[in-house]
Amino acid sequence: MKIKEIAAKKMNTNKFIEEKVREIRETVGDGFAINALSGGVDSSVVTALGHKALGKKLKTYFIDNGIMRQGEPAKVAADFKKLGISIEVLDASKAFFSALKGLTDPEEKREAITQTFYKKIFSGLVIKSKAKYLLQGTILTDVDETVAGIKRQHNVFEQLGIDPQKAFGYKILEPLIQLRKDGVRKAGRGLGLPEGMFDRIPFPGPALAARVIGEVTPEKIALVRKATAITEAALKDIKAFQYLAILHNDKVTGMRNKKRVFGNQIEIRSWDSLDARSAKPTRLSFDILEKIAARITKEIPEVVSVTYNITTKPTSTIEAI
Ligand code: XMP
Repeated sequence: MKIKEIAAKKMNTNKFIEEKVREIRETVGDGFAINALSGGVDSSVVTALGHKALGKKLKTYFIDNGIMRQGEPAKVAADFKKLGISIEVLDASKAFFSALKGLTDPEEKREAITQTFYKKIFSGLVIKSKAKYLLQGTILTDVDETVAGIKRQHNVFEQLGIDPQKAFGYKILEPLIQLRKDGVRKAGRGLGLPEGMFDRIPFPGPALAARVIGEVTPEKIALVRKATAITEAALKDIKAFQYLAILHNDKVTGMRNKKRVFGNQIEIRSWDSLDARSAKPTRLSFDILEKIAARITKEIPEVVSVTYNITTKPTSTIEAI
């Protein structure tokens, strides 16, 4: 079935929210639904929309997969608490790291995260809660890129001909599926979310695993997490669409304490884009870039080299895997 796009420019935000609230209420009826909040723009907006529609009939979990950004689980739970929405945080990091062990292929890594999330962790919660519906923040760009075979997004099933009811035992509701990122932000604003929440830079479903080239281990995640925190702090005011740090698999020779050492490389990317379908590298000043490199190499002793990506999307993608 062809999805009818709602362009952000033409979107009537209040009407969109009213319609989606009504649709969610009608579909869920007397039953109840659950959803998983990742703290990203899409899942935050879908959580707010779902709570507006269902109130206590929606149970929201934050699944800590161990590959989130620094301090993220606690911050997200606290932010939503302020909005009167209570979130249950569940530590599932062991399950995710064991599923990722030994995998180096990007699509296999994504698939391992998908399977661990839906089959191992989330379907267990659905069964326990007896919810029949899962609310999810899939957007149109996710669908387009999956159908085009550019990337296997972790949250697109129906478009791939997979029935989540058969595969996982529940139905998926995707109220944001007609929107792109700019439309989702408008909906977030319309729902009264604080600016800092819906206006965050996008963050991918596979989290920091999308930024580790090669095998994902707790040590590599810890490293890319630190580099991410430094990069985000340095670029928070530049108004780019998205910026990130990537940990390379290959090591390079560098120097520490006047000795040659074989160390890690971090690649910084910063993107100007409207909807993530295409993107250009941000023309960052050399001052900013040098400051990022200096902080990363000072605060992360394993890193000896920092580079900046100057490619457009396409041919690059925004994330590394
Ligand atoms: P790429 O790397 O494909 O990313 O150019 C396009 C946009 O999508 C985000 N991204 C994802 N978002 N699940 C998501 O919800 C995913 O699996 C995923 N992979 C990439 C990425 O951060 C960028 O904004």
